Amino acid sequence: MTHAILTGHSRGLGAAVTAELLARGVAVLGLSRSENPALARAHPGQLEEVSIDLADGAALAHWLDGGTLARFVADADRVLLINNAGLLQPVGPLGSQDGAAIARALAVNVLAPLSLANALVAARPAGRDCRILHVSSGAARKAYAGWSVYGATKAALDQHARAVAADALPGLRICSLAPGVLDTGMQAEVRASSPDRFPARERFAALARDGQLVPPQDAARRLVAHLLSEDFGREVVADLRELPPEAVDDARAPR
Ligand SMILES: NC(=O)c1ccc[n+]([C@@H]2O[C@H](COP(=O)([O-])OP(=O)(O)OC[C@H]3O[C@@H](n4cnc5c(N)ncnc54)[C@H](OP(=O)(O)O)[C@@H]3O)[C@@H](O)[C@H]2O)c1
Repeated sequence: MTHAILTGHSRGLGAAVTAELLARGVAVLGLSRSENPALARAHPGQLEEVSIDLADGAALAHWLDGGTLARFVADADRVLLINNAGLLQPVGPLGSQDGAAIARALAVNVLAPLSLANALVAARPAGRDCRILHVSSGAARKAYAGWSVYGATKAALDQHARAVAADALPGLRICSLAPGVLDTGMQAEVRASSPDRFPARERFAALARDGQLVPPQDAARRLVAHLLSEDFGREVVADLRELPPEAVDDARAPR
């Protein structure tokens, strides 16, 4: 059986990816501050939820020491980690950012993904297929004024994936994947930014007005198809919008 650990399963892209994994029979361990009662009800016994604030590095270290992750993956034929939880804040130019918000962004966007990845690879059953997907962003690869912290944290995930791929650990595949511009709470937060703190605000507001935000369910379907595909990990830093059709669509995958 395939077992997946996913952060940020309570809403947005993470909730949609969790729904897609559960629908495919994957057992999911979801880590967020809040729970997802609808998915837990719809898939009894298949979704295990952990309420944790990933901005609290000590709480995460304590949880990792507790052995839940190792127990969850012990009997799995294949293990997946989707580092999805992310924080956009602090938004604004250097010198105006809240120090505590910088620390939270680094903990949720970088410390948690890197710690979970390390713990998973230490705990994975020998010889089993193990796949790690970091949810990155276009902001890792294009510099946006006002998003220096967000962009730097996502670029850290890209570089982590490159270096882990260079480790060439047997059975391990990794990809840092930008998912596109999605219709989630984070985009509402982008539109709520003031143009003096985030000058590109209007571009994202226009995408929403023009109906060009991608429903998280659509992105989740493609993301999970890619994660489970033979192609996964071939491109270590990738963009969901640019992968070839056979890499994101089960029906088109070579058999
Ligand atoms: N939306 C986009 O257009 C877009 C574009 C590019 C990349 N991304 C990336 O895609 C990922 C998902 O984004 P989204 O749009 O779905 O965001 P979202 O709607 O804001 O959801 C964020 C998820 O992360 C969890 N989370 C946030 N802070 C947390 C904390 N301190 N501890 C534990 N969990 C926490 C939230 O759960 P709780 O609140 O329950 O804790 C929630 O489930 C992020 O990494 C984001 O950077 C999004």
